[in-house]
Amino acid sequence: MARKKISVIGAGHVGAHTALWLALKELGDVVLLDIVEGVPQGKALDLMEASPIEGFDSNIIGTNDYKDTAGSDVVVITAGIPRKPGMSRSDLINTNVGILKAVVEGVAKYSPNAHILVVTNPLDVMVYAAWKMSGMEPHKIMGLSGALDGSRMRAFIAMELGVSVEDVHAMVIGGHADEMVPLRRYATVSGIPVAQLLSPEKMDAVIARTKKAGGEIVALLKTGSAYYAPSAAVAEMAEAIIRDKKRIIPCAAYCNGQYGVDGLFIGVPVMVGAGGAEKIIEVELDNDEKKAFMGSVAAVKGLIADLKIG
Ligand code: APR
Repeated sequence: MARKKISVIGAGHVGAHTALWLALKELGDVVLLDIVEGVPQGKALDLMEASPIEGFDSNIIGTNDYKDTAGSDVVVITAGIPRKPGMSRSDLINTNVGILKAVVEGVAKYSPNAHILVVTNPLDVMVYAAWKMSGMEPHKIMGLSGALDGSRMRAFIAMELGVSVEDVHAMVIGGHADEMVPLRRYATVSGIPVAQLLSPEKMDAVIARTKKAGGEIVALLKTGSAYYAPSAAVAEMAEAIIRDKKRIIPCAAYCNGQYGVDGLFIGVPVMVGAGGAEKIIEVELDNDEKKAFMGSVAAVKGLIADLKIG
């Protein structure tokens, strides 16, 4: 069977680490593309030189030319500028939409059948823009939000309880912004509702930290934003597509009436497999959760209206 081809656009912190996770999982051959000459080539070569140690047979190349990405099965878009301290994800909007336009043109031209996974922030707006600009089918475009935010929440719960992260599950829906909606009622440890193990005050703190988790790292790094967890999370999404796993991964997906949202990408639980966003799972939300979710939807709508991309 021919190997799958995965292109990663933007060979910066998130992009290069995505290539590493993809190779470690041997999901296919990887093409790293960046606008800066030499950087994707150098990082790809460096990764290839690690392959004998880790024993992965993925071929990794670096390029500045979209021709080399032709026929990709999955394209991960990380090109763009990251946040600096004091910035919100939405402060990146104009610069990153401009970058996205060039990227989508190259991707749509050479890989019209690819699944697109968007990482560039502000996430929910960028996924929407990628869809509008590409004219691709909406179920083949998803954005990284809940896979990352949920992993952060799981890590914080595991830290609080001193239990294995493997047993902790948590779901975060809504936009990938301060208005995200961590669902406390759906957090479990080996099937046990977290409310039976953690006090409401401690859970409040976990939720508050989850919402600000990206900013916590920006404040510490000072020169950029998080990349280990974001890259691991998007590689998990790529794996679900390539291996047709049917994983239930909350991510920014196109809603077509689900959760009362129509014509918008927002974080919802999605069955992810070879068909991309195969099915949106509609979990029951209480009034507070619904209100928070609709607040998140309104924030994304507001950003899109300002963009004037339709
Ligand atoms: N085409 C291709 N690559 C581009 C383009 C372009 N038009 N413009 C910028 N890039 C590249 C940069 O050269 C850089 O190598 O995108 C890369 C971005 O890398 P970093 O600056 O290290 O940023 P990173 O931390 O990887 O974050 C990228 O992901 O999580 C989000 O908010 C984050 O939007 C940001 C994106």
